[in-house]
Amino acid sequence: MKNNNIEQRDNFGSRFGIIAAAAGSAIGLGNIWKFPYMTGLNGGAAFIIVYLVCIAFIGLTLMLSEFIIGRRAQKNAIGAFKKLAPNTPWFLTGWMGVIAAFVILSFYGVIAGWCMEYIVRAVMNSFAGMSPDEITSSFVDFIGRGGKPIFWQVAFMSLTGFIVVSGIKDGIEKYAKILMPLLVAIIIILDIRAITLPGAGAGLEFLFKPDFSKLTANGILMALGHAFFSLSLGMGTMITYGSYISKKENLGETALQVTIADTLIALLAGIAIFPAVFAFGIEPNAGPGLVFITLPNVFQQMPLGYLFSILFFILLTVAALTSSISILEVVVAYFVEDLKMNRKRATITATLAITLLGIPCSLSQGAVPLNIGGMSFLDAMSWLTDNLLLPLGGLLIVAFVGWVLGRKEVEEEVTAGGIKVSYIPLFMFLAKFVAPIAIALVFLNGVGII
Ligand code: TRP
Repeated sequence: MKNNNIEQRDNFGSRFGIIAAAAGSAIGLGNIWKFPYMTGLNGGAAFIIVYLVCIAFIGLTLMLSEFIIGRRAQKNAIGAFKKLAPNTPWFLTGWMGVIAAFVILSFYGVIAGWCMEYIVRAVMNSFAGMSPDEITSSFVDFIGRGGKPIFWQVAFMSLTGFIVVSGIKDGIEKYAKILMPLLVAIIIILDIRAITLPGAGAGLEFLFKPDFSKLTANGILMALGHAFFSLSLGMGTMITYGSYISKKENLGETALQVTIADTLIALLAGIAIFPAVFAFGIEPNAGPGLVFITLPNVFQQMPLGYLFSILFFILLTVAALTSSISILEVVVAYFVEDLKMNRKRATITATLAITLLGIPCSLSQGAVPLNIGGMSFLDAMSWLTDNLLLPLGGLLIVAFVGWVLGRKEVEEEVTAGGIKVSYIPLFMFLAKFVAPIAIALVFLNGVGII
């Protein structure tokens, strides 16, 4: 029986739903677009090893910290801090998260829109017969236009709002349960294609045979920064999702599973991309254009490339969508719980505001010269999140759990429902010392102090 006097908070309905939604948040453009190009720029396997170390020690610690805060408070990112540390400035951490959600989703929606355009291009077979220069200029020309990229950005943001408006169980969880298996199926098909190409070995070597001489200090910090972005950490996404996880679930195990899933998909994306890139003798270090310029070149030469190019851009869009809903939910949950809006109004308001902020991001790619500090507006938004908002947010979140919440409350939360764990001393050590110091280094580097 429902108690009608107590407002029922929407929750995830099943364990698979939790993993699908949280892994869906983590697995996104970060895995399939950004991780491969960063690996390409930083020399391959050595970068991946550093990334794995960052994920294991810092990413996992921060993910569990966010789950603990969210589930303990049963609140959105801002409300959670207000509840766990009343009458202190800690709620500002949540505020920064909500602001970060606006900033991230503004440019994320633009890039996801490009992915949708590329599904259409793939279906129309538009890459066929284009020279590499033509493929490059058609990309540069497209993102530099005024109307078309914005059209796709609006389309993508509408899809995101459409899912979020239906709530947790009937919106986010329901779609994640359909989209995530689809994503896994597509990436496996693409991997099989890539590793069976003649000459694929060089790409696998690039991914798995480390050459540490190619790794720079900056590369190491990029790896840590990307670990945050890829696992959706540092802005309260996992606080918000954690607040929808039932008290019966094992938070440590959930954090571990989500982290492993995210890492595996990033590696599988690398395996889908680099063997093909090397097999056709193309340079791996194209940077952000890797999936929009390098890959169409690859698909063009690949047997059945037509089919695989369609699948690839569907994969990117699906991955982006299960992430964008998690970012929007951070804002919507706050609007609903603390500003007392109804869900529909909250979703529409947040989606509109974020889409509007995305428009200058899109225009800055060539249509209008919008620059901040020598970067395009879009790059500036991305820089702001990677170097400032996420590291600072992550630092505050993990320090909050380590120093403010403290061992007793942590233990109580991760052992709720009679779960036995042995990792508390290690976790507390990582949360109090290792993670804050490592994150502080990224932060100081990002803002140019070291
Ligand atoms: N993790 C997603 C990706 O890899 C993006 C994302 C979703 C995100 N929620 C986030 C990034 C919160 C930072 C913070 O594409």
